[in-house]
Order: sequence, then C-alpha cells, then structure tokens
Amino acid sequence: MKKIKSILIAATIILGLVACQETKRIGWTAHALDIASYQLKQTASALEDTVMMPRSTWTFHDDGFLVSQLGHANIESDDPEEVYSVEHLKGQRRDCPINDWTSGFFPGSLWYAYELTGDEELKKQAVRYTNILYPIRALAGTHDLGFMINCSYGNALRLAHNDTIAAVIAETADALYKRFDPNIGCIRSWDFGSWNYPVIIDNMMNLDLLFNASKITGDSRYYDIAVAHAKTTMQHHFRPDYTCYHVVSYHNDGTVEKRETHQGKDDESTWSRGQGWAVYGYTSCYRETKDTTFLQQAIHVADMIMARVKTNDSIPYWDYDAPAMAETPRDASAACVTASAFIELSTLIPDGQKYFDYAETILENLSAPEYLAKKGENHGFILMHSTGSLPHNSEVDTPVNYADYYYLEAMKRYLDIKKPING
Ligand code: GLY
Repeated sequence: MKKIKSILIAATIILGLVACQETKRIGWTAHALDIASYQLKQTASALEDTVMMPRSTWTFHDDGFLVSQLGHANIESDDPEEVYSVEHLKGQRRDCPINDWTSGFFPGSLWYAYELTGDEELKKQAVRYTNILYPIRALAGTHDLGFMINCSYGNALRLAHNDTIAAVIAETADALYKRFDPNIGCIRSWDFGSWNYPVIIDNMMNLDLLFNASKITGDSRYYDIAVAHAKTTMQHHFRPDYTCYHVVSYHNDGTVEKRETHQGKDDESTWSRGQGWAVYGYTSCYRETKDTTFLQQAIHVADMIMARVKTNDSIPYWDYDAPAMAETPRDASAACVTASAFIELSTLIPDGQKYFDYAETILENLSAPEYLAKKGENHGFILMHSTGSLPHNSEVDTPVNYADYYYLEAMKRYLDIKKPING
C-alpha cells in the first residue's frame, strides 16, 4: 500500500512538472493573444462610426532604396503620380473601403481572436464588421472575393452558423464561378492591365470558399472549378524547382501568353508571399480532395521554402531573391501564411513534424518584441514588418491586416494541436 502511495506521489510530481514546462513553453501565446485582443478592440471602436477597415500604414521610400532592392530601375508604378500624392500621409494608418482586397481580414481577425479568447466584445465587433461586407458578395471585377468573404463570412459561418451567412458564401461562389473560363481552366484574377487573361498565384486562396460553397449548397460546380483551377495552376505557374511565378497570363485557347511578376523582385524571382499562397492553397486542395498530387505539390513548395529562407529567424525577406542585407525589408505576412499552411500540412501526413516545428519557430519569433506590437502602438495592428508591394513603393516594412489574420489563424491551428494543459 505504502509503495502504491509513493508511486502515485512520484507520478503526480512528474505530471506537475510536465504541465509546468508546457505552460511555460507556450506562455508566449497567452501574451500574444492578450496584445492581439487589445489591439483589435481598440481599432474596432476607433472605426465604429465608419464603414472603413484598417489595412496598413502609408509608407514611402526613395527610389534609390527601391532600385537597390530590385536590382533594376523598373519601378512598377501603374500611376507614378499616385505614389507621390500620398507621400504626405507617410506613417499614418491606411484604412480601406469594403471593396478593397483586404477588407475581410479585420473581421476575420476579430473572429479568430474571439474563438481563441471567448471574449464576447470581440464577437460583437466581429459581427458588426462582417455585416458591413454584405454588398461584396456579388462584386464583379475581381477574384479577391475569397479573401474578402471567406475570411469574414466563412469564419462567421463556423462560429455563429445561420442560413443568411451560408447564402452569402453561395452567392460569392456564383460571382467567382462567372470568372472561370473552361477553355483556360482558371478563374480570371484581374480586369486591369494589358494581360489577356491574368491569373495570379494568390488566386489559390479562393478555393476554400468554393469548397465551402459546394458543401453548403450540394452543388459540385464550385468544387469542380476549384480543382480545375488548382490543376491548371500546378501545370503553368511552377518552375522545376517548385518556386512559382506571380502572374501567368493565358491566351483564349489556354496556352500561356506570358509569365511575370507584379509584386516580386523580377519576373524570375521568388516572391515570398506568393510561395505562401501556393503552399497554403495546395494544402487546402489536398484536405478537400485527398488527391495526392496536390499533397506532393504542397510538400515540394514547403521544402523549397525551408531551403530558400535566408534569415536567421525564418521570417523571410520580402522576396526569397532579395539581397540578404540588414536593410532588406522582411515580410511577416508571408511568414504568417506559411506558418498557418505548415501547421495544417503537418496534420495531413505521418512525417509532418518538421513543418510543425518550422511553423512553431515562426510563431514564436513573431511573438517576440521584434515583431509583436506593444499595446496601444503600431496603429492598432498586431504585427510589424510586412511588405505589401515593394516594386510599387507601397506598404514596405509596415503592419498589414493580412499578417494579423494569418498569424491568428496559425495560432489557432497551433493551439489546437498543443492544447495547453494549464491554460
Ligand atoms: N493578393 C495580393 C497580395 O498578396 O499582396
């Protein structure tokens, strides 16, 4: 009896120590979520009387810096006057209207923060900011509907299911369906520019909305175009080393017109966020289809990312081919998208631990003072040091709402696996 008692005491001590270590190890998540909730609530109430969303801050760099980053002088200003017209706004928060491609990320961040903390104030604000996006469901002229509606209404459907939300997802899928050309096998990305039929790698991020819409409606057309889009993109966007082009434009018969970059260093470079969209998109496609060609694609892209990163903290420079110099801007948003995808990928394969570990490193580093805002600072955003489009001199080394969104999503996926023993 005495022996059993001793064994029980020893076992309790060991369990206690393990729990203590585990709590300490993921204590950084509690700190990060505290900051995230504070920042989101402050910003939500600051914008409460408007129909604007917080997007980033205005940045402005001189041409010499841009040329040194790009290695060439082809600065991509669609309208050079436009860049200089906002110089005086430098350093201020940049808000955006609901038809901006990033409008779904702030409501989506509120939903994830609510899910992670149970804070009802976050839910109240999530509902408010999601409702503002209602007119977007039938927006023509852009492929960004997946970002806008799946991150907002898609999370609302998970966390506060109702038929109105489901109908919004279905209507949005119809709008995307209209942008699919069966001769090309892709959803058209942009309606601007001189390309015949531009498709960007970012477009892989629409597919989750289409998969959701098929489940909600029972209509397999949305699933079918998602799969077709993923297959065509796999065929034409990737180089033999599994890096991908940003833009591929097609002729009407489905042959390639040209392959280019829009936001990367040059046409043959490896734009960091684009690689994140790729690994995220193919991981989703495998989750939904169980087609192992999508899984292999996700694994190849993931391995390429880990091999190509040049920074010590795994938060990549804005392009994997950018000069490895102290002044080269990072892209925390690329790191967040990558981390979220890697955590999901790690759950889909038996030997996924290395992807989980890589994502954990990213999340821990982003949750340190080098990247994580202090309460009340950073214009209300959670993370610092992302890059939107360096060739356009736009949002270079700044907070952006999509970094915050994918950071919280990654954190949710991370904590679902780690399941803290002691809070
Ligand atoms: N979808 C635009 C971007 O990634 O910047």
